[in-house]
Amino acid sequence: MNKMQDKIRKIYEEIEAFTTDRKDDLEQFRVKYLSKKGVITGLFTSFKDVPIEQKRAVGQALNDLKKKAQEKFNTIGDQLKKREDKTESVNDVSLPVHFQEPGSRHPLSLIRNEIIEIFSRIGFTVAEGPEIEDDWHNFTALNFPEEHPARDMQDTFFIEKDPDIALRTHTSSAQIRAMEQRKPPLREIYPGRVFRNEAISARAHCIFHQVEGLYIDENVSFADLKQALYYFARELFGEDTDVRFRPSYFPFTEPSAEMDISCNICGGKGCNICKYTGWVEILGCGMVDPDVLENCNIDSEKYTGFAFGMGIERITMLKYQIQDIRLFFENDLRFLKQFTSAI
Ligand code: PHE
Repeated sequence: MNKMQDKIRKIYEEIEAFTTDRKDDLEQFRVKYLSKKGVITGLFTSFKDVPIEQKRAVGQALNDLKKKAQEKFNTIGDQLKKREDKTESVNDVSLPVHFQEPGSRHPLSLIRNEIIEIFSRIGFTVAEGPEIEDDWHNFTALNFPEEHPARDMQDTFFIEKDPDIALRTHTSSAQIRAMEQRKPPLREIYPGRVFRNEAISARAHCIFHQVEGLYIDENVSFADLKQALYYFARELFGEDTDVRFRPSYFPFTEPSAEMDISCNICGGKGCNICKYTGWVEILGCGMVDPDVLENCNIDSEKYTGFAFGMGIERITMLKYQIQDIRLFFENDLRFLKQFTSAI
């Protein structure tokens, strides 16, 4: 092998071993091997002095060398460019932000949790029942007479034509299950979803949520009921809140009442929310009817109890001054986002 081929081989090896992650080094590489004044051009210039019989082999080696240098330059150049693009996209402060929206609790969950929390402070624990119920737990055990209008097809969604199985119309069914399964003293609340076959409007929906409560022990009185609910109303709506009880009717409580709070919007002066009465209704309640206790094998001579039930949508609408119940189910982010700062 002549001197020229030897030189070409050495340079070839040099080029093969070359690597860098710096642009300047690559530029130096280009100047050294590929520029007009570079090593390879120099070799081509001295090609004329190669003896004729070696010209073919040396020419071939020279071409390979040039190809190799060019390839090396291109590959490293591409790599550096890719890296640069990446870091540029990280550093470019003008690029749009990939903002991850933080999730937030639904307003109904917020109020449900608040209700649970308030009652837990006075000793109530949480229990739940099934959404698909039988007639016994939803109606019969609760003293609904056969012909009671609430059993009417108008109000109840029945499952597959079986008149015994329906979507529960209230969470009072969970109270029956509790009294059947656990014995007094009982102090529980039952949050859950309920279903009624009603036309959807700004004030009514066919799906909504309730929290019902039950307290059964010896000597539980109507005064205890008032005390617990008065505490609840003031904790939820503020300590200036006034309450009043109006006689009412539920098949499963006797006596029964509805509780109003002083309108938290106008402070009792009168506005369109309270229809200028100064009061808004927030729940139904009463002393558990002795027949209901007996239906659940609880001795009504020994035990008495109170029960109450409220709609979470209604309470939430009052608390946040929301005018249309349908908003809760539409999941419009413009609505939901207003509750992000709440816990
Ligand atoms: N279950 C009743 C309703 O759905 C509410 C209620 C519960 C009333 C407990 C009195 C006692 O309207």
